[in-house]
Amino acid sequence: MDPDYNCLLDPSCPIAERMSTVFVLKHENSDQALDLLKTGFASKSVLLKHEIAYVMGQTQNEYSIPYLNEILADVDRNCIVRHEAAEALAAIGSKNSLEILQQFSSDPQIEVSETCSLAIDSIQFKLKHDVWNDEFCRFGSVDPAPPSNIRDVDQLRVSLLDSSLSFFERYRALFALREVGTKPAVLALIDGLSDRSALFRHEIAYVLGQLRDAVSIPALTKRLADPSEHPMVRHEAAEALGSVADDSVREILEKFKADDDLLIHESCDVALYLAEYWTNQAAKDDS
Ligand SMILES: [Fe+2]
Ligand SMILES: [Fe+2]
Repeated sequence: MDPDYNCLLDPSCPIAERMSTVFVLKHENSDQALDLLKTGFASKSVLLKHEIAYVMGQTQNEYSIPYLNEILADVDRNCIVRHEAAEALAAIGSKNSLEILQQFSSDPQIEVSETCSLAIDSIQFKLKHDVWNDEFCRFGSVDPAPPSNIRDVDQLRVSLLDSSLSFFERYRALFALREVGTKPAVLALIDGLSDRSALFRHEIAYVLGQLRDAVSIPALTKRLADPSEHPMVRHEAAEALGSVADDSVREILEKFKADDDLLIHESCDVALYLAEYWTNQAAKDDS
């Protein structure tokens, strides 16, 4: 295997490069690649570790399940990394994961317990409907819930903001709004950024990053700039801004690259890399 993979555990290697290595290994999706990815869980970078858990889920390769179980069960680990491990188990969707998800669905870390409850609903839905939600997703991600069949933005907004519904139902509205993808749909999603659940806000920020609509820049910037906001949300807002790749986002990201929290600093670094990527893509499309 390419010796460059050594950079995964090398803190002197730029974070954007280490994250690219994670994606190369994701695409490889072999047992050997997943073993290599697992070594990255020893890193000090929460960003890198959460990304490793994320891509393990996105591969939908059951080989990762014991690795993800280990991370979820390690209560001393960062809640963002544990959350991502639970979400990854849902993406893989094995019936055998229901037991561990049930066990941690009352975890004291709320990000973990909420994710485990959502993951249980997600797996049960898949088992019942015998489909993977990536069949529904034109954005290339394996999501925690399929979009609902409704396409009326006002109706979807009501479900999105209704905290009496399960996360799974609210996520279905969220992904349906992404499918609609119009300005009113984006504005409805932005309203969800005021929800009291950090888990929910982080997913909204993630989806706004997929939609790449400049109308979301002020709302995402507000999340990133709020030091009292959950780091999981600030991180997702930073990366979403990088994907929007409007000229104005570079200045914002440069500013928050100086944040004391390593997760935010590294997220802004990666976001700047994303902004460059999308700008180059746009230039190619124009030529
Ligand atoms: Fe997440
Ligand atoms: Fe993330």
